[in-house]
Amino acid sequence: MHTLRVTKASSHKLQSRFCWVYRNEIAAYDEAIQDGDRVRIESHGGAFLGIGYYNGASEITVRVLSFEERSIDAAFMAQRIERAWHKRSDLARQSNAYRIVHAEADMLPGLMVDYYNGYLSLQINTLGMERLRPWIIDALIAVAQPKGIIEKSDAKMRRKEGLESAGGVIWGEVPQRVVMQERGVAFEVDLHAGQKTGFYLDQRRNRHVVSGYVRGGMRVLDCFCNAGGFGLHALREGASVHFVDMSDSALVQVAQNLTCNGFAPQTITKADAFDFMEAQVASATRYDLIVLDPPPFAKTKREVEGAMKGMGFLLASAVKILEDQGIVALFSCSHHVGIGELLTLALHVGTQEGVMLEVLELLRADADHPYILSIPNTDYLSGVVLRKISF
Ligand SMILES: C[S@@+](CC[C@H](N)C(=O)[O-])C[C@H]1O[C@@H](n2cnc3c(N)ncnc32)[C@H](O)[C@@H]1O
Repeated sequence: MHTLRVTKASSHKLQSRFCWVYRNEIAAYDEAIQDGDRVRIESHGGAFLGIGYYNGASEITVRVLSFEERSIDAAFMAQRIERAWHKRSDLARQSNAYRIVHAEADMLPGLMVDYYNGYLSLQINTLGMERLRPWIIDALIAVAQPKGIIEKSDAKMRRKEGLESAGGVIWGEVPQRVVMQERGVAFEVDLHAGQKTGFYLDQRRNRHVVSGYVRGGMRVLDCFCNAGGFGLHALREGASVHFVDMSDSALVQVAQNLTCNGFAPQTITKADAFDFMEAQVASATRYDLIVLDPPPFAKTKREVEGAMKGMGFLLASAVKILEDQGIVALFSCSHHVGIGELLTLALHVGTQEGVMLEVLELLRADADHPYILSIPNTDYLSGVVLRKISF
């Protein structure tokens, strides 16, 4: 195996279990290293730090696979996947769909695998992980015993790694639609089309927490609803729900999910959420609970200011159209806009709108998307649930 030596600063970061080496943190390396090769990572002083894989085309040039000196082989992959699978066994009591491998958070950088009621959806984002593909597939079949595996490796990141996108059924059979259950609510998931690897699994716990505030007869707005996750849980509690999203395919799924659960038809609107909220403010419509779950507005630090403006507008509009004592759940799926930023924003909006906002919940991604303290980017989904109080 080739050897690569990192700077002092990077050595310290790896010792504290950070698992990336940036290009400018490489102090010296074996010239024969090829992209995708596995490397032995050494500190500036020559001590063993870990084993990773290399891609000179990527700013994140080395990703760590192991902090132990061991061979990376079929047994390694089987152990990693088995460990990730067992870690999620508690979630199986709430749902039959959850993420079983979450990249760095499971020490398998570049690999994501979701389980949907017997089927697996797989995404390989890096060249180094691509090289481990046969072991990954074998381990998944042995551990999860799926009926089929579909690949959805269409991430932009693959292009940065010099890889073509890859997709389709790669093992067994995967039907067009799989029906899964989440705490008694059924969802039809189109594994061949849907966004991400199929469904927003990371919001599972938050859908449950937010539905805990719903009472029969409440008027709920599920804005940026995708397949209707929050709204469907609210319907189960006896609310009526207005679903809003700009994606046709998402709204088709909402309608299918209403039918699938035997719920009465609800209002479903295809709209840009910003235009929709503006129009609602101008109208006399009022809600008891609003969910705002937009896509990531700040993928980089530079985009944070714009993201805060956008989210500020959404939250201010929600506060305006909420009844007194009404509740708003605001989410950010960007590492750069976390709980602190959401609370700062809420304080500002409360002042601007002349209301008090009571903090009911501080939320993050569910346990199948682990937040590893030494890998800050694994903290990427934040939410606040606020009650509007007008005195
Ligand atoms: C994070 S997902 C929502 C997930 C959903 N709440 C759930 O629990 O499954 C964001 C959604 O926002 C939609 N979207 C993105 N930009 C939008 C916009 N400007 N107006 C309305 N919907 C938008 C996307 O189509 C996507 O369905």
